[in-house]
Amino acid sequence: MVQGAANWNTGMTQEWLQEYVDDWVSFYRKHTAEGEVASYIPALKEANQDHLGISIIGMHGMKIRSGDVDVRFTIQSISKVLSFIVACMQRGVSYMLDKVDVEPTGEAFNSIMHLEMKPLKKPFNPLVNAGAITVSSMLDGETSEEKLQPLLSLLEEIIGHRPPINLEVYESERESSMRNRAIGYYLLETGFLDSDIEVTLDTYFKQCSIEVTIDDLARIGLILANDGKDPDSDQEIIPRQVARLAKALMLTCGMYDASGKFAAYVGIPAKSGVSGGIIAVSPPRVRNEPLPFMDGCGMAVYGPALDSKGNSTAGIRLLRHIATQWDLSIF
Ligand code: DON
Repeated sequence: MVQGAANWNTGMTQEWLQEYVDDWVSFYRKHTAEGEVASYIPALKEANQDHLGISIIGMHGMKIRSGDVDVRFTIQSISKVLSFIVACMQRGVSYMLDKVDVEPTGEAFNSIMHLEMKPLKKPFNPLVNAGAITVSSMLDGETSEEKLQPLLSLLEEIIGHRPPINLEVYESERESSMRNRAIGYYLLETGFLDSDIEVTLDTYFKQCSIEVTIDDLARIGLILANDGKDPDSDQEIIPRQVARLAKALMLTCGMYDASGKFAAYVGIPAKSGVSGGIIAVSPPRVRNEPLPFMDGCGMAVYGPALDSKGNSTAGIRLLRHIATQWDLSIF
């Protein structure tokens, strides 16, 4: 962290921005009381409902962290963005878009109903369970371990270490997987899976159980904000076309059936998970006045108390406040 460095765009110091963000985290923490920690996967119930933290990483070393920043949690549905990226890198974008659509469902993430509604029965998008399970089946490899290696390697390249899989959450996820099994078998019957059903489901459960921190997610957000390039080395980690597609999906489908509201009120690509994490991407923006993080940034919040749609109650409010204060909307 560059202590006290001046913000190159605004003249505001990092310390000054830090104070603001600290105040906002303190203010929005009370909203954790309005939500509930996910309980349909027993291991997730152990999370502390009061936690709220944020990490923001900018293009040139600017970093703001506040609240409960060191909590490790499982990535859950945020992994769907990464598995889709890896599958696109392995199979090519047109192959993937032939198998999975890019339309929001307006339904819950684990809905089965929407699969039956269209004549093609093609999963609506890679960020709902039906689409994500299809994507897991398309990752290269014969076993779940083999399928996950490239995803873990991509993460290692971005965050600097290989993240662990939380075995307790994985077991819990697997044991409470009736709905995902139903979706998986439906996809098998309709011919959308490229791999064995059990290997596919195991891959999906394991990818959801990858353990991260908000710093890890903010760093992934930064790479996406920079269209797939590492701003420090200028090296391409994710092809530009794939990074842009991932952001479009995050914007339209990333926040479950609250994606429209998030786009309207926050206005940046984001993806949430049931453990309470949200990754958000602020691309570079052009404004007439200097504002924080004009060159773009990756952001991540953690707040395990969820609203009725499955999004972090306090996390959503905090992101909305920051987006308003810093004029982050891409629209
Ligand atoms: O499929 C599940 O139940 C979880 N492991 C992932 C859930 C999640 O984060 C919701 N996603 N959109």
